[in-house]
Amino acid sequence: MRLFAALVPPDEVLDEISRAIAPHVGQVPGLRWPDRATWHITLAFFGEVPERVLPELEVRLARAVRRHTALDLAFTGFGAFSSARRARVFWVGVAGDSMTRLADSVKAGGRRAGAVQTDEKRFHPHLTLARAKAETDLRPLVESLAGFSGSPWRAEHVRLVRSHTGPQVRYESLAEWALAPAEQG
Ligand code: 2AM
Repeated sequence: MRLFAALVPPDEVLDEISRAIAPHVGQVPGLRWPDRATWHITLAFFGEVPERVLPELEVRLARAVRRHTALDLAFTGFGAFSSARRARVFWVGVAGDSMTRLADSVKAGGRRAGAVQTDEKRFHPHLTLARAKAETDLRPLVESLAGFSGSPWRAEHVRLVRSHTGPQVRYESLAEWALAPAEQG
């Protein structure tokens, strides 16, 4: 089964992103915009994981998540991989508390459970909004959305998600764990 761990932002902040991109959705040739119900911030991509590994993976992830506090975050700035000029993935970025330590712990938990790491790219927190099969020049899109900054929100949970691939990708939530409460202030 194809698995990843993710943060799922609250609806109100996703509404802000929806409103910002609405004038552009379906307007850029070659760009496909996944359904909003699938939006998430990937913390760790585990790739294909044998089903027998799942119980141990869940134990390891629960343990990793408990050790970290909730994160204060905000969406900020649109961009693209690998660059706005040669884009295949169009995203909105995430600012605030660093997600890297949490992502590293979650990845390490996956490794210990036997989930093979297939994603060794540098971690760049983002929420994917659109994808292109061929490299596309998205500079006009990125420039027209410059200046966006979303409301602050707190990430309080980490979710383990199964990705069912096919003509229409479907995500199934398998488990969710709470991060430790953030310090007040
Ligand atoms: P993306 O948001 O940049 O597309 C499910 O595929 C999730 O895992 C997606 O959010 C995807 O990131 C992320 N992911 C990370 N590495 C991946 C990989 N090598 N193949 C597929 N998805 C990957």
